[in-house]
Amino acid sequence: MTAQSTLAFRSLKSTHPTPQAEREAIVANPGFGKYFTDHMVSIDWTLDQGWHDAALKPYGPLMLDPASSVLHYAQEIFEGLKAYRHPDGSIWTFRPEQNAARMQRSATRLALPPLPTDLFLESIKQLVAADAAWVPGSGEMSLYIRPFMIANESFLGVRSAHRAAYYVIASPAGPYFAKGVAPVMIWLAEDHSRAAYGGTGAAKCGGNYAASLLPQQEAYENGCPQVLFLDSQEGKYIEELGGMNVFLVLKDGTLVTPELTGSILEGVTRMSIIQLARDRGHQVQERKVTVHEWREGIASGEITEAFACGTAAVVTPIAALKGRGFIAGDEHAPAGKLTMSLRQELTDIQSGRAPDRHGWMQRLV
Ligand code: COI
Repeated sequence: MTAQSTLAFRSLKSTHPTPQAEREAIVANPGFGKYFTDHMVSIDWTLDQGWHDAALKPYGPLMLDPASSVLHYAQEIFEGLKAYRHPDGSIWTFRPEQNAARMQRSATRLALPPLPTDLFLESIKQLVAADAAWVPGSGEMSLYIRPFMIANESFLGVRSAHRAAYYVIASPAGPYFAKGVAPVMIWLAEDHSRAAYGGTGAAKCGGNYAASLLPQQEAYENGCPQVLFLDSQEGKYIEELGGMNVFLVLKDGTLVTPELTGSILEGVTRMSIIQLARDRGHQVQERKVTVHEWREGIASGEITEAFACGTAAVVTPIAALKGRGFIAGDEHAPAGKLTMSLRQELTDIQSGRAPDRHGWMQRLV
């Protein structure tokens, strides 16, 4: 623990919170990422002072100098985790220390200041305690928490900023995809990569997502809500989707997921699914997988299921992989059995309906 992790938070409560009826209507049908709670957290950092001035305050616009480095050179990182209401009304989150650690790795890669784990955890607790009424009842819904960090020094020279700020906002969330938990089609990006070897692919930085938007648009135009990226060197190996990791299931029950090469995000849901599957005695292979293997495996019956996973997407079945002139799988295929049963097990743990045998849950309120 560093001295800075013991920062005291100033608390400024909103004087005009969302009226109860309006809030309840939003929480009952939140969609994803559309509505935000009444408060936010901010913590400032300077090269001289380190982390300081931690505050819980009313949600509202940021004042940014137009010369702020984030606006020019994209020195920005973020995280995503969720708060779940358990049947007894208590509120919990899932493996937040993993998000804290990943944010530190992302910060290092983007030359931003790593935020101490205790400060990260405290920032989440402060916000969820203030906005506990925004955490949906249960079932498929949760409060999506979005910590992020920006470089906000007013300077146009290209170097790591000497001033940064960390924020946390939160948004009540239902399923990420418009059609709920139904199987989705995935579009194969053939002209664009998401990240290069030695680049920022393993960091959770906005730039990776910006790079995914043009191929993502092509995916939408082809009826697919997510895009699959291949490695940037050979254009052969599957890496990840625009905003989530990917798994294939073989007919003998083996799970296969792309190995972490430095250009793939190490998803918290990804690592949890690997653990849950191994607990059940399934083999899990983290290895290179070619897109050819996926297409051939569907054709031969060797691959029986595929799914996407991430904090926002949880576990989402993949019906088919589509690309220019081909479709591997059946657009109307039902969700895979193992996919749905792993999904159920994970969401049961998260929502307090099943024992937390790995000690993954942390109580917030
Ligand atoms: C998450 O799953 O938390 C993510 O960050 C994905 C995001 C693109 C919604």
